[in-house]
Amino acid sequence: MEMNKVHILDHPLLQHKVSILRDENTGVKDFREIVSEIASLMCYEATRDLPLEEVEIKTPVAVAKVKVLAGKKLAIVPILRAGLGMVDGIVTLIPSVKVGHIGLYRDPNTLQPVEYYCKMPNDIAEREVIVLDPMLATGGSASAAITFLKNYGCKNIKLMNILAAPVGVERVIADHPDVDIYCAALDETLNDHGYIVPGLGDAGDRIFGTK
Ligand code: PRP
Ligand code: URA
Repeated sequence: MEMNKVHILDHPLLQHKVSILRDENTGVKDFREIVSEIASLMCYEATRDLPLEEVEIKTPVAVAKVKVLAGKKLAIVPILRAGLGMVDGIVTLIPSVKVGHIGLYRDPNTLQPVEYYCKMPNDIAEREVIVLDPMLATGGSASAAITFLKNYGCKNIKLMNILAAPVGVERVIADHPDVDIYCAALDETLNDHGYIVPGLGDAGDRIFGTK
C-alpha cells in the first residue's frame, strides 16, 4: 500500500512569512500578499517530482540536449473560501495550470464540512491534482475534498496547507494513505472551537477582511 509522506517545508523564507501571518497585527493587504508568496514557495517544493523529458534545441552557440517538463497535466483545487488565497501564487509559477473549485464550509457546531459548490475541469481525472487550503485543522474539510476528487476518478492527489494540526494530518493519513501532505508548519493542537493553536485565526476572514 502507498504511504503518505508528510513534508514540513521549513525553509527560512517560509518560516519568516508564516510568522508574519500569525501576528494579529498583520492587516488584510499584507496577509493576502504573503499567503500568495507562501503558496509560490510551497509550489516549488510540491512540484519537485514533476517528470522531465529531453529535447534538442539550438542555442546561439550550439545544438544542445535540454530538459523540459514532460507535459504532465496538472490542476489545482482550492477549497473555498480560504484556498482561493493560494491560487495566484501557484498560477504565477505554472501559468497554464487548470483550476477546479470546491466549496466547503465547516459547520461551527459539529465541525463537519458542508459542501456548497463544485466546478472541475472536464479532464480532472487525468490530472495530477494539488488541493489547496491554508488550514488543516480537524482534517474534515481536506479529507472530504480528497474523497470528492477520488469520486471524480482522480488518482494522483497532493494536499498543500500552510498550517496543520497533528490531528488533521492524522485524519488525512488515515482516510487517504496515498496522498502526500505539504505544509509550512505543524502546530501544537486545536482549541475547543477547532481552531489551530497557536495558529493564525480564521484564514478566510483574514484573507477577505470579513472580520
Ligand atoms: C476553514 C479552512 C478549512 C477548514 C479547516 O474554512 O479554510 O477549509 O476551515 O478546518 P477542518 O480541517 O477542521 O475541516 P472555513 O470552514 O472557516 O470556511 P471559509 O474558508 O469559507 O472561511
Ligand atoms: N479554520 C481556520 O480558518 N482557522 C483555524 O484555525 C481552523 C480552521
